[in-house]
Amino acid sequence: MSNSLFRTKKIENILAEGSDDAHAGEGLKRVLSLRDLTFFGIAAILGAGSFSSLGGAVFHGGPGVVILFIITAIACAFTAFCYSEFASRIPVAGSAYTYAYASFGELFAWIIGWALIMEYSIGNIYVAYSWSDYFTSFLEKINVYIPQYLCTSYMEVKDALADGSTNKEVLDAWNNAPMIGNLRIIFDLPAFMINILITLLVYRGIKESRNFSNVMVILKMIVVSLVILVGGYLVFSNGLTFNWTPANDENIRSFMPNGFSGVMAAVSGVFFAYIGFDAVSVLAEESKNPQRDLPRGMILSLVICTIVYILLTLVLTGAVNYRNFEGVGDPLAFIFEKQNLNVGWMQFFVAIAAVVAMTSVLLVFQMGQPRIWMSMSRDGLMPPVFQKIHKKYKTPSFATIVTGLVVGVPILFTDKTFVLDFTSIATLFAFVLVCGGVLLIPRKEKQTGKFHLPYINGQFIFPLIVIGSMVLAASLSKSYFTDMFSFDFSDNADYTKGKISFMDAATPNITLVIFWIVALLLAIIAFIKKYSLIPLMGLITCLYLLTGMTKSNWAWFLGWLAIGLVIYLLYGYRKSKLAT
Ligand code: ALA
Repeated sequence: MSNSLFRTKKIENILAEGSDDAHAGEGLKRVLSLRDLTFFGIAAILGAGSFSSLGGAVFHGGPGVVILFIITAIACAFTAFCYSEFASRIPVAGSAYTYAYASFGELFAWIIGWALIMEYSIGNIYVAYSWSDYFTSFLEKINVYIPQYLCTSYMEVKDALADGSTNKEVLDAWNNAPMIGNLRIIFDLPAFMINILITLLVYRGIKESRNFSNVMVILKMIVVSLVILVGGYLVFSNGLTFNWTPANDENIRSFMPNGFSGVMAAVSGVFFAYIGFDAVSVLAEESKNPQRDLPRGMILSLVICTIVYILLTLVLTGAVNYRNFEGVGDPLAFIFEKQNLNVGWMQFFVAIAAVVAMTSVLLVFQMGQPRIWMSMSRDGLMPPVFQKIHKKYKTPSFATIVTGLVVGVPILFTDKTFVLDFTSIATLFAFVLVCGGVLLIPRKEKQTGKFHLPYINGQFIFPLIVIGSMVLAASLSKSYFTDMFSFDFSDNADYTKGKISFMDAATPNITLVIFWIVALLLAIIAFIKKYSLIPLMGLITCLYLLTGMTKSNWAWFLGWLAIGLVIYLLYGYRKSKLAT
């Protein structure tokens, strides 16, 4: 018995609890193969990020966004290796939460579990909204129209009107909405409905979900390949390759027309596109051979999606000048419109694929959340009812319904931008803790048939990488480090136009200063402790991506963590199995 906030759970105990024998035949069904897990990975990764936010990303960075996709893929690959190491050692359903329990202790485990609600549930709210956008535009292509007030979120309309929007759809939703008293009935009905359907499917069972998910992945891969092949062919045959080096405001042609800062401005959209490979790890208890297949499934899906993203970005920015993507929410369909490549049937296919792609993302995340809660409940950190497994369907039934509510209710009163930021910051935070956690668990000999994270001594290499990066940053931009300490934002257009507050303009500077201090400290610790290079690189690249978050992201995230902390102290701390 221990009363410490940092009490850790022994890996042997976690394994015993997650084993098939532990639940007296009441455990989850082991039906998933390597192919299923890889498909789940792709199902979770390829979705709203590529079909929706890619447009904004290329508008900011131009064709050079390809570089950001590669950087983010590297950060995610390092993290995937760390997830894999944990998944191979602790193949139970709790994912990052369970891993933190074994390495950092209970408080951090709780914090991760709490943060993962944002990745899995809140992230799904964003995907549900994007799903609805594509679904309604698909319906419009076959001449079925849903009233605007039933396919827009209330907050979006309200905020747009407050900003003086004259957008026809916004005005239409506001002016035609039925009223109850003073309240206008405006909500995103398709987003709400898809959440109910997905919840029912996940409740019904893993096998059915798997079959459904596999079909959707195949479909979306076919359509994405078509976009790449048809789009790529037309880029070359129409002689459009000059779009890969577009002219910027100074009329200089470049792969990165807005420089590297333009590319980095796309970080959150690009990162969101990669979220999901980690969801594979929550399927540990339903996987036939988790120690071998989970790591492979995660890394394979990541590699496949990275190739897809690079090709998609090249096709998009080749087909159309990057500046034309301003405000484009359906970039893959957009490039085939009349004024662009002009292929009508592709627009139709892409609309269907987007709906399919996002349905599979919803499905995987909706499956992940209850499994994490189930693990937390087994540890006593959440009420016992969360570990209840449905007798017939063998799924965590109660937790599945609660997930449906946690996604469904906020659909009625939040909006896309808000939930996107929330999701990205929380996920990066979880990644940081997973990479850090791998540094803390003792090294282990390789065992045949199991994934084993190769140990590369980071004692010299890591400090060299940190110092090399500092030198590179300073040589690429002479004022890089002095700018970090300068709080004169007179050349920041968003700040001077009053679009963002002083604190929001200053936050990237503050976070960069903190980042470099942490990087130097980490280099010293790595030198002393001879830490393994791969988790170190995962840690540092994810920390770097966190520097892109704004002050309001941090404020909301810290507020969320504070609420979680209170709940933990009132409930989990006392009820934890480690305490009793
Ligand atoms: N990566 C997932 C998507 O893009 C979350 O929808």
